[in-house]
Amino acid sequence: MPHPRDLHDLAVAIARDAGELARVRRAEGVAITATKSALADIVTEADREVEAFIRARLAEERPLDGFLGEESGVEGGTSGVTWIVDPIDGTVNYAYGIPAYAVSIAAVTGDPRPGHWDAQAGVVFNPASGELFHAVRGEGAWLGDERLAVVPEPSPAGALIATGFGYNPATHPGDIARVARVMPIARDVRRVGAASLDLAFVAAGRFDAYFERGLQPWDHAAGALLVEEAGGLVGGYDNVDEFGRALLVAAGPGVFETLRDLATP
Ligand code: IPD
Repeated sequence: MPHPRDLHDLAVAIARDAGELARVRRAEGVAITATKSALADIVTEADREVEAFIRARLAEERPLDGFLGEESGVEGGTSGVTWIVDPIDGTVNYAYGIPAYAVSIAAVTGDPRPGHWDAQAGVVFNPASGELFHAVRGEGAWLGDERLAVVPEPSPAGALIATGFGYNPATHPGDIARVARVMPIARDVRRVGAASLDLAFVAAGRFDAYFERGLQPWDHAAGALLVEEAGGLVGGYDNVDEFGRALLVAAGPGVFETLRDLATP
């Protein structure tokens, strides 16, 4: 098995180049090419191009690894390593020109299902801000060169809590009700529009916590490792709602359980 640091270094190099490609395509103008699970769930030509770029680079460097990407699906490998990739997380922000989107790349080993895999390395790169969040299993998480740490306990004013909503309109009433339940422990809430950045911000202590239902593996694989390596907790995967959407809660230890309970079911 390769050292997690080698997987990390490769992920960082590819994420930087992929992010630059996304940034250039954004500057050239973005066209929505298709819708996916719902009308609001869009894909741009850049999503596909950036994923193809990442996939080709990984195939070149590590041909025996598996791959799971948002736009091009899954391919098994034989090395025991699987790469989980969201080429542009925050596609709606990207399409609207909001500078909050990210390339998310994680290398995991073991069973490649959320809650079962062992993430070894993760990178979340926002090319619009130049911020690169990265983590190595057992070694820590960083923003650039700065070591990250979650907020252990929210201030008495309450927790700054981020969340997100899925694309299926039928799920919105339940999500809004959950936000209402969480408000008593919140000083305020945020909806960034890119789950990988929400998680990176928890790792960086910019948010006290984040929760959302219905995330896909590529939305959270890299970000969850950032949070864990910054001393936070990530969980809730077994907590499924009536739409079959698993919960994800990421937080410092002081608020994790309370938030998980409030966000259930
Ligand atoms: C979406 C974003 C959004 C979250 C959605 C995700 P995409 O990913 O992370 O913040 O609320 O659940 O699907 O579609 O932009 O890659």
